[in-house]
Amino acid sequence: MAGVSSNDKISPFSFRNGSLYCENIEIDKLFDDSIPNDRQWVPAGPFAVYTFDDPITPAYVYSAAGIKQNVKSYVDGLRHANLNAKIGYAIKANPNIWLVEKMKESGVGMIIAVSGYEVLLALKAGFTGEDILLNGNGKQPWEIKMAIDLGVLLNVDSVFDAQQIARVHQDIESSNEVKVLLRIRPVPAKDEESKLKTHEYVNTAENSKFGFEFSELDQVLAALNSREKIKVVGVHCHFGSCLTNPKVYEWLGTTVTDITTELDKRGIAVKIFNVGGGVGIDYHNIPKGLPKQVEEEIKTVGNFTERFKDIEPVSSISDFLLALAKTIPKDCELILEPGRSLIGNAGILVCKNLGTKVSYGKKFLVVDGSMNEVIRPCLYGSHHQVFPTKINVTEKWTTYDVVGPVCESADFLAKNVPMQTSSTYMAVMDCGAYCSSMASRYNMRPQVTEILVDDGLWRKIRRRDTFEECYLKYYDDVKRYDN
Ligand SMILES: Cc1ncc(COP(=O)(O)O)c(C=O)c1O
Repeated sequence: MAGVSSNDKISPFSFRNGSLYCENIEIDKLFDDSIPNDRQWVPAGPFAVYTFDDPITPAYVYSAAGIKQNVKSYVDGLRHANLNAKIGYAIKANPNIWLVEKMKESGVGMIIAVSGYEVLLALKAGFTGEDILLNGNGKQPWEIKMAIDLGVLLNVDSVFDAQQIARVHQDIESSNEVKVLLRIRPVPAKDEESKLKTHEYVNTAENSKFGFEFSELDQVLAALNSREKIKVVGVHCHFGSCLTNPKVYEWLGTTVTDITTELDKRGIAVKIFNVGGGVGIDYHNIPKGLPKQVEEEIKTVGNFTERFKDIEPVSSISDFLLALAKTIPKDCELILEPGRSLIGNAGILVCKNLGTKVSYGKKFLVVDGSMNEVIRPCLYGSHHQVFPTKINVTEKWTTYDVVGPVCESADFLAKNVPMQTSSTYMAVMDCGAYCSSMASRYNMRPQVTEILVDDGLWRKIRRRDTFEECYLKYYDDVKRYDN
């Protein structure tokens, strides 16, 4: 059955008259005329005084409308599937507080955290302890203490995690009730169709470091039962990321039945079912608004259709939810943990075109963005579309590797993509999730500016790191310890 709305149909970025727009704002105009250069001042001290204009690019640009549409796809899809669920945002996808606040405003009711700092950020964004879930296979005592103090729901990942949660509860002599979910590794699918077709690094089912198996259930429960105030309220299962086919939820069906039966036998009622996140997005999407012949040329030059013919199209959020409705017992409260499908297509990385070069016949377009800002291609071999922000109707499209200035051969943003090289800026598409949050400062490159476009206005929602911020940490807390 077709879904009511589809995340893959929404694009907050589109071309108009050959220029890329974020909502109603033209990217080139934004970068050429609007965003001011920040002047940087490198103070005296061990270094000479030096001032320079900090470049604006690379910079992430996000669309608030894109976020709202994505949340709405979940809200509408839940209604359509007649499901009662809390939408929890997996904040690791992108923890920029302005975006998190936008999520809250749009209908996200929970934050899924994996670290103490993510919990604190969720509080800063206006969520309460009870609206937060702390996941993780390596929770540290200070994080567990924080969760207990704040009333955060905890996911139990292993026997040692259960023991540690009980130990911390005892050590801090807490009288707080602690609600926990058991993270069970899903029972593997037998049929080919419902197998996970996702990269092994984002597969959290078979052979994964996350969760525990049924055989360990009694050990986990024994540890938790050592503290009367620790209550098992439900179960958590997460398959992995970039899921395309809702059929995986039929695989979940077996796990659901098995786990509820086992817990029932031990007198535990499963009240909450947390099915994780993982709904994929279409990373091969061509933005709307390109002239037909340009779109055709792009597909021919990049051999686009042929290259990606085996990529399974991503089903709509609604179809995933309809599949879940068939699987989850009606009397269970449901928690969803999407990350990518809420923010992935709502952000791009705008890079400056630095120039082209040829090496043994291979053409490279060098831009100022890099693996530091978009690590997915080199980490998982992921594909991101890259487009000039201004299309030149008289220029031929040619195949290029788009690479950054970082000193690694793995520093590429896209390989063998159709490209025109006359545009001042290039846009790496679908960078809303797992790009800024995974960014690094390799090669002493600062973490970059972030811009939010909202209702015809834009604002800087993250300042680029200054040189001082990058180097002062080498001095701030340095003490010499004598033996
Ligand atoms: C437990 C858990 N929940 C939610 C997510 C979010 O996944 P996604 O961003 O693919 O929706 C992840 C990501 O790996 C995860 O491990």
